[in-house]
Amino acid sequence: MSAAAFALQNAAAAREKLIVALDFATIREAEALVTTLGDRVGFYKIGSELAYGGGLSYAQDLIKDGKQVFLDLKLHDIGITVSRASAKIARLGARFLTVHAYPQTMKAAKLAAAGSSLRLLGVTVLTSYDDHDLADAGYAYGVADLVARRAGQAYEAGLDGLILSAQEAGVVRARFGQDMILVTPGIRPANVEASGQKRTMTPAAAIAAGADYLVVGRPVTQARNPREAAEAIIAEIAATMS
Ligand code: C5P
Repeated sequence: MSAAAFALQNAAAAREKLIVALDFATIREAEALVTTLGDRVGFYKIGSELAYGGGLSYAQDLIKDGKQVFLDLKLHDIGITVSRASAKIARLGARFLTVHAYPQTMKAAKLAAAGSSLRLLGVTVLTSYDDHDLADAGYAYGVADLVARRAGQAYEAGLDGLILSAQEAGVVRARFGQDMILVTPGIRPANVEASGQKRTMTPAAAIAAGADYLVVGRPVTQARNPREAAEAIIAEIAATMS
């Protein structure tokens, strides 16, 4: 393969690893960003805020437009409720859905999504949490131990992947190889503020640690020029992959 063809292929592969979080209150704001980013970004995450403002029907519009959608709904309830909700979500055509990595919750979601193209990701420990926050919430484990425990339980429950910070990605990748999809939020390019995230890493470091997909919100959505910010992140990913 020529160097130019390799560079093109590498840039396309890097682009597929970026998931932009549409953390907006309204569909109008989300649409404006998607239009600004154009063909630069092909994968979007819809979380609670937008989902409660019409985001599920917007997800279907994005899918019709050829985009991939990650529904970050972080389900957690009694098994029957999780199961019924997951079955409904599986019909929307999204690629990823998050559930909290509690054994009952994961098993219920897994049963309901079986046979669909929906891939389930277990949220291990939120990236805004550190050891102190876990102790405060009543956990006896620190972040590293709780992530490891929940990763094992997610694997046993048959989940497709995990949400974790890039700081834990290396250890988890070494343990599960390519058997689990690793998706890492808390991404902060150099010179961008943490803004509430406590377990952050740069795009390059996250890819080097073994992340399959990077979730990026404010570093793109709040950038003066979101398209340039996304392109810079894709370039950083591509440079790390080459
Ligand atoms: O703006 P920022 O890049 O911090 O956004 C990160 C996104 O990833 C948010 O939508 C947040 O809900 C989500 N997320 C996270 N930590 C997790 C799971 C999801 O920050 N463990």
